[in-house]
Amino acid sequence: MPEALEGVPWSWTLIRATGITAWCALTAVVAWGLAAAALRLRGAPPARAVWLHRWLTTLALGLLFAHMALLLVDSFQPFSVVEILVPLAAPWRPFAVALGTVAFWLIVPAWLLGRLRGRRRYRWFKRAHGLAYAAWPLATAHYVLAGTDAVTPWSLGILIGGTAAVVGGLLARARCGPRLHHAEGRQGGGK
Ligand code: HEM
Repeated sequence: MPEALEGVPWSWTLIRATGITAWCALTAVVAWGLAAAALRLRGAPPARAVWLHRWLTTLALGLLFAHMALLLVDSFQPFSVVEILVPLAAPWRPFAVALGTVAFWLIVPAWLLGRLRGRRRYRWFKRAHGLAYAAWPLATAHYVLAGTDAVTPWSLGILIGGTAAVVGGLLARARCGPRLHHAEGRQGGGK
Protein backbone atom coordinates (compact mmCIF):
# COMPACT_ATOMS: atom_id res chain seq x y z
CA MET A 1 0.00 0.00 0.00
CA PRO A 2 1.40 3.50 -0.82
CA GLU A 3 2.64 5.32 2.33
CA ALA A 4 0.24 8.24 1.81
CA LEU A 5 -2.77 5.88 2.09
CA GLU A 6 -1.65 4.07 5.26
CA GLY A 7 -4.14 4.51 8.13
CA VAL A 8 -6.74 6.13 5.84
CA PRO A 9 -10.06 4.20 5.77
CA TRP A 10 -10.60 2.53 2.37
CA SER A 11 -14.07 4.07 2.15
CA TRP A 12 -12.72 7.63 2.51
CA THR A 13 -10.17 6.96 -0.23
CA LEU A 14 -12.93 5.65 -2.49
CA ILE A 15 -15.21 8.62 -1.68
CA ARG A 16 -12.45 10.91 -2.89
CA ALA A 17 -11.65 8.80 -5.95
CA THR A 18 -15.32 8.57 -7.03
CA GLY A 19 -15.78 12.30 -6.31
CA ILE A 20 -12.90 13.27 -8.56
CA THR A 21 -13.85 10.87 -11.36
CA ALA A 22 -17.50 12.05 -11.10
CA TRP A 23 -16.32 15.66 -11.45
CA CYS A 24 -14.21 14.70 -14.49
CA ALA A 25 -17.20 12.89 -16.05
CA LEU A 26 -19.51 15.86 -15.34
CA THR A 27 -16.93 18.20 -16.85
CA ALA A 28 -16.80 16.00 -19.96
CA VAL A 29 -20.64 16.05 -20.13
CA VAL A 30 -20.72 19.86 -20.11
CA ALA A 31 -17.70 20.44 -22.37
CA TRP A 32 -18.84 17.82 -24.90
CA GLY A 33 -22.47 19.00 -24.76
CA LEU A 34 -21.36 22.53 -25.66
CA ALA A 35 -18.95 21.35 -28.36
CA ALA A 36 -21.53 18.96 -29.82
CA ALA A 37 -24.07 21.80 -30.11
CA ALA A 38 -21.52 23.77 -32.10
CA LEU A 39 -20.59 20.76 -34.26
CA ARG A 40 -24.23 20.09 -35.03
CA LEU A 41 -24.52 23.54 -36.56
CA ARG A 42 -21.54 22.82 -38.74
CA GLY A 43 -23.41 19.91 -40.30
CA ALA A 44 -22.10 16.99 -38.24
CA PRO A 45 -24.72 14.23 -37.79
CA PRO A 46 -26.17 14.73 -34.26
CA ALA A 47 -26.90 11.11 -33.28
CA ARG A 48 -23.42 10.06 -32.15
CA ALA A 49 -22.67 13.35 -30.45
CA VAL A 50 -25.90 13.16 -28.46
CA TRP A 51 -25.30 9.47 -27.65
CA LEU A 52 -21.89 10.31 -26.17
CA HIS A 53 -23.37 13.22 -24.18
CA ARG A 54 -26.03 10.93 -22.70
CA TRP A 55 -23.60 8.12 -22.04
CA LEU A 56 -21.22 10.46 -20.20
CA THR A 57 -24.15 11.76 -18.10
CA THR A 58 -25.08 8.21 -17.09
CA LEU A 59 -21.43 7.53 -16.22
CA ALA A 60 -21.24 10.72 -14.12
CA LEU A 61 -24.44 9.80 -12.27
CA GLY A 62 -23.21 6.24 -11.64
CA LEU A 63 -19.97 7.56 -10.13
CA LEU A 64 -21.99 10.07 -8.13
CA PHE A 65 -24.22 7.33 -6.70
CA ALA A 66 -21.07 5.46 -5.64
CA HIS A 67 -19.60 8.69 -4.15
CA MET A 68 -22.79 9.19 -2.10
CA ALA A 69 -23.41 5.52 -1.19
CA LEU A 70 -19.87 5.17 0.18
CA LEU A 71 -20.62 7.93 2.69
CA LEU A 72 -23.21 5.59 4.24
CA VAL A 73 -20.56 3.00 5.11
CA ASP A 74 -17.65 5.31 5.87
CA SER A 75 -16.01 4.54 9.23
CA PHE A 76 -14.39 8.00 9.58
CA GLN A 77 -17.51 10.17 9.14
CA PRO A 78 -20.65 8.15 8.32
CA PHE A 79 -23.66 9.98 6.80
CA SER A 80 -27.34 8.98 6.95
CA VAL A 81 -29.51 8.89 3.81
CA VAL A 82 -31.19 12.16 4.87
CA GLU A 83 -27.82 13.83 5.47
CA ILE A 84 -26.74 12.82 1.98
CA LEU A 85 -29.91 13.91 0.17
CA VAL A 86 -30.95 17.09 2.04
CA PRO A 87 -28.83 20.22 1.50
CA LEU A 88 -27.20 21.57 4.70
CA ALA A 89 -28.10 18.42 6.71
CA ALA A 90 -24.56 16.98 6.52
CA PRO A 91 -22.71 16.40 9.79
CA TRP A 92 -19.40 17.53 8.23
CA ARG A 93 -18.75 20.83 6.38
CA PRO A 94 -22.49 21.27 5.72
CA PHE A 95 -22.17 24.19 3.29
CA ALA A 96 -19.42 22.64 1.18
CA VAL A 97 -21.32 19.33 1.04
CA ALA A 98 -24.65 21.09 0.28
CA LEU A 99 -23.12 22.50 -2.92
CA GLY A 100 -22.62 18.90 -4.09
CA THR A 101 -26.10 17.85 -2.99
CA VAL A 102 -27.74 20.72 -4.91
CA ALA A 103 -25.62 19.88 -7.97
CA PHE A 104 -26.84 16.28 -7.75
CA TRP A 105 -30.50 17.40 -7.57
CA LEU A 106 -30.00 19.58 -10.64
CA ILE A 107 -28.63 16.69 -12.72
CA VAL A 108 -31.22 14.03 -11.84
CA PRO A 109 -34.36 15.68 -13.38
CA ALA A 110 -32.58 16.40 -16.69
CA TRP A 111 -31.31 12.82 -16.86
CA LEU A 112 -34.72 11.34 -16.00
CA LEU A 113 -36.69 13.56 -18.39
CA GLY A 114 -34.09 12.84 -21.06
CA ARG A 115 -34.87 9.13 -20.68
CA LEU A 116 -38.64 9.53 -20.52
CA ARG A 117 -39.30 12.33 -22.88
CA GLY A 118 -41.46 12.15 -25.93
CA ARG A 119 -42.38 15.24 -27.90
CA ARG A 120 -44.87 16.44 -25.27
CA ARG A 121 -42.33 16.31 -22.45
CA TYR A 122 -39.69 18.13 -24.50
CA ARG A 123 -40.50 21.52 -22.98
CA TRP A 124 -39.96 20.11 -19.46
CA PHE A 125 -36.75 18.48 -20.54
CA LYS A 126 -35.45 21.80 -21.93
CA ARG A 127 -36.21 23.54 -18.60
CA ALA A 128 -34.55 20.80 -16.55
CA HIS A 129 -31.60 20.78 -18.95
CA GLY A 130 -31.22 24.55 -18.58
CA LEU A 131 -31.10 24.19 -14.78
CA ALA A 132 -28.59 21.35 -15.04
CA TYR A 133 -25.98 23.77 -16.41
CA ALA A 134 -25.73 25.21 -12.88
CA ALA A 135 -24.60 21.80 -11.59
CA TRP A 136 -21.08 22.20 -12.95
CA PRO A 137 -20.12 25.44 -11.13
CA LEU A 138 -21.76 24.11 -7.95
CA ALA A 139 -19.94 20.77 -8.21
CA THR A 140 -16.68 22.64 -8.84
CA ALA A 141 -17.18 24.81 -5.73
CA HIS A 142 -17.99 21.60 -3.80
CA TYR A 143 -14.78 19.99 -5.07
CA VAL A 144 -12.67 22.99 -4.02
CA LEU A 145 -14.32 23.51 -0.60
CA ALA A 146 -14.90 19.89 0.48
CA GLY A 147 -11.97 18.14 -1.14
CA THR A 148 -9.12 16.95 1.05
CA ASP A 149 -6.89 16.87 -2.00
CA ALA A 150 -8.40 19.83 -3.84
CA VAL A 151 -5.38 22.12 -3.76
CA THR A 152 -2.64 19.53 -4.25
CA PRO A 153 -0.71 20.11 -7.51
CA TRP A 154 -2.20 17.08 -9.32
CA SER A 155 -5.73 18.04 -8.28
CA LEU A 156 -5.19 21.66 -9.37
CA GLY A 157 -4.03 20.26 -12.73
CA ILE A 158 -7.35 18.38 -13.05
CA LEU A 159 -9.36 21.45 -12.03
CA ILE A 160 -7.54 23.77 -14.44
CA GLY A 161 -7.67 21.25 -17.33
CA GLY A 162 -11.40 20.61 -16.79
CA THR A 163 -12.20 24.31 -16.49
CA ALA A 164 -10.27 25.00 -19.71
CA ALA A 165 -12.33 22.31 -21.50
CA VAL A 166 -15.61 23.89 -20.31
CA VAL A 167 -14.45 27.40 -21.26
CA GLY A 168 -13.43 26.06 -24.69
CA GLY A 169 -16.90 24.51 -25.09
CA LEU A 170 -18.55 27.77 -24.02
CA LEU A 171 -16.54 29.75 -26.57
CA ALA A 172 -17.44 27.31 -29.36
CA ARG A 173 -21.09 27.45 -28.34
CA ALA A 174 -21.11 31.25 -28.04
CA ARG A 175 -19.80 31.60 -31.58
CA CYS A 176 -22.94 29.99 -32.99
CA GLY A 177 -25.43 30.58 -30.16
CA PRO A 178 -28.23 32.51 -31.88
CA ARG A 179 -28.18 30.24 -34.90
CA LEU A 180 -28.48 27.21 -32.62
CA HIS A 181 -31.83 28.31 -31.18
CA HIS A 182 -33.04 28.94 -34.72
CA ALA A 183 -31.92 25.49 -35.85
CA GLU A 184 -33.47 23.77 -32.82
CA GLY A 185 -36.78 25.51 -33.46
CA ARG A 186 -36.72 24.30 -37.07
CA GLN A 187 -35.96 20.71 -36.07
CA GLY A 188 -38.62 20.61 -33.30
CA GLY A 189 -35.99 19.89 -30.70
CA GLY A 190 -33.27 18.65 -32.95
CA LYS A 191 -32.76 15.16 -31.46
C1 HEM B 1 -22.28 16.68 -8.88
C2 HEM B 1 -22.14 16.27 -7.66
C3 HEM B 1 -20.82 15.97 -6.96
C4 HEM B 1 -19.54 15.94 -7.45
C5 HEM B 1 -19.05 16.17 -8.88
C6 HEM B 1 -18.67 15.67 -6.34
C7 HEM B 1 -17.30 15.61 -6.39
C8 HEM B 1 -16.45 15.63 -5.30
C9 HEM B 1 -15.04 15.84 -5.33
C10 HEM B 1 -14.23 16.06 -6.59
C11 HEM B 1 -14.58 15.82 -4.06
C12 HEM B 1 -13.14 16.06 -3.61
C13 HEM B 1 -12.34 14.81 -3.42
C14 HEM B 1 -10.99 15.18 -2.82
O1 HEM B 1 -10.25 15.94 -3.45
O2 HEM B 1 -10.67 14.76 -1.73
C15 HEM B 1 -15.71 15.58 -3.20
C16 HEM B 1 -15.64 15.48 -1.84
C17 HEM B 1 -16.70 15.17 -1.03
N1 HEM B 1 -18.02 14.99 -1.43
FE1 HEM B 1 -18.72 15.21 -3.29
N2 HEM B 1 -19.44 15.47 -5.21
C18 HEM B 1 -20.75 15.65 -5.56
C19 HEM B 1 -21.85 15.51 -4.73
C20 HEM B 1 -21.78 15.12 -3.42
C21 HEM B 1 -22.92 14.78 -2.60
C22 HEM B 1 -24.37 14.77 -3.08
C23 HEM B 1 -22.43 14.44 -1.38
C24 HEM B 1 -23.22 13.93 -0.22
C25 HEM B 1 -23.76 14.57 0.65
C26 HEM B 1 -21.00 14.62 -1.39
C27 HEM B 1 -20.14 14.44 -0.32
C28 HEM B 1 -18.77 14.68 -0.32
C29 HEM B 1 -17.89 14.65 0.83
C30 HEM B 1 -18.31 14.32 2.25
C31 HEM B 1 -16.61 14.94 0.38
C32 HEM B 1 -15.32 15.06 1.21
C33 HEM B 1 -14.39 13.90 0.95
C34 HEM B 1 -12.95 14.35 1.20
O3 HEM B 1 -12.53 14.44 2.32
O4 HEM B 1 -12.26 14.67 0.27
N3 HEM B 1 -20.63 15.00 -2.67
N4 HEM B 1 -16.84 15.48 -3.98
